[in-house]
Amino acid sequence: MQDTQFVKAIAPWLSPTDGPIRAHLALAIRQAIGTGHLPAGTRLPPERSLAAALHVSRPTISAVVEDLRASGMLTSRQGSGSWVTEGHTQRRPTVPFVELLQASGSIDLAAATAPDASLLPPMRVENSDFLGVEPANGLTPLGMEQLRRNIADRHRYDSSHSPDPTLDQVIMTSGAHHALGLIIAACAQRGSSILVEETTYGGLIDMIHANGCVPVGVPRDDDGPIPEVLSSLLRTHRPSLTILVSSVHSPTGTVSSAHRTHALAKILTAAQTQVVLDETYADLEFSPTTRVLANELGNKAIRVGSLSKTLWTGLRTGWIIASPTICTDIARRRFQQFDLGPSIPSQLFALQALEHFDVVVQKRRAQLIDRSSWLTDALAVKFPDWSLSRVDGGLALWAEVHMDGNTFAKQASERGVAVLPGSACRADGQPTPHIRLCFDRPIDVLEAALDRLG
Ligand SMILES: Cc1ncc(COP(=O)(O)O)c(C=O)c1O
Repeated sequence: MQDTQFVKAIAPWLSPTDGPIRAHLALAIRQAIGTGHLPAGTRLPPERSLAAALHVSRPTISAVVEDLRASGMLTSRQGSGSWVTEGHTQRRPTVPFVELLQASGSIDLAAATAPDASLLPPMRVENSDFLGVEPANGLTPLGMEQLRRNIADRHRYDSSHSPDPTLDQVIMTSGAHHALGLIIAACAQRGSSILVEETTYGGLIDMIHANGCVPVGVPRDDDGPIPEVLSSLLRTHRPSLTILVSSVHSPTGTVSSAHRTHALAKILTAAQTQVVLDETYADLEFSPTTRVLANELGNKAIRVGSLSKTLWTGLRTGWIIASPTICTDIARRRFQQFDLGPSIPSQLFALQALEHFDVVVQKRRAQLIDRSSWLTDALAVKFPDWSLSRVDGGLALWAEVHMDGNTFAKQASERGVAVLPGSACRADGQPTPHIRLCFDRPIDVLEAALDRLG
């Protein structure tokens, strides 16, 4: 391929002012390959002329080619140059994310859920509780007032210029997945781009595709999304929404430094995009810190939360916190397309569970710290060549296993252990040498899983 044709193919993902050029160029080429602008078999121009055409140094081009070769997107041969490998055009997920988590007959380390409801406080709902519900017919389209007020109180800003959320800024949902789906349906135009982290919650990618939008992954390093690349993607794609998993990231389990978070907040505050913060794991940070992104963005961000990870997934209780205007848009869309509001029994249970929230979460944290350090140590002995991400919180760890994660997951499943392949968490659905392992299991279950993995 000629230099000019190549530059034209990646142009939609390039912008004039860039941060780390290596990450940005690699992403642009990934996107061009993923969307079919650079089909399989396309030969790259020689590195020297490509460097000249893109106004970057030759070592930068060599490093980018090396990155893409390592991820399998390019193949190179001495004397023949590099070309696009087969099978990397972005595919819409054919199997919904949730089906990947239904691991019958295996030890399940794939689903990031508490193993059971054993840490839930005692709860009881009787007919008299239903008789006390307001309004008496039990129709609460946005959720019960008492519950919404409770959630608003739990989401005060630490130091922000923004006024604290009020009752009319809270909508109850049946989990964070439902909340994200409602937001996308109400706030993103069909065909628009939605920025997400390049590895993120897999169910989110399903919903973006299902709403006719295009997920665009923001590259991350060990400290979270890379600010300069985020900036440039905001300019290039003009995304309707930017959805970040904060402050404990999923699937990596890491928390960004305050320095990085300030940089991201500054960019997002100035950007023309609706920011959404998915705080599903935020209460499970092992050493709780201030939620810098939520505080700094204040009312600019829509916040999403859930009791699924902190208490129990079976409660199916989540929420959205947004400006009253956005809440009205989301509520209208909800009633037109989805449902007439949450069930009263689940809200009554949520109210009781929330009375014990702090005590249960403290116990959960202590248990999760034990389990994650047990698994991290055991994996370091059993698989010394794996690279494990730092675990700052959450229920799962992210491991680089030096082979395609899909192949690893298939082999693990044949041995009776379900793990989640990293590709299920990628915005572009591409294979990656990573897997996610949920450590929120009793130690004897983790031990049995490692024995099976051999
Ligand atoms: C980051 C993230 N957001 C949202 C969800 C959905 O959670 P819920 O069970 O509350 O629908 C999950 C579940 O795995 C998740 O990991």
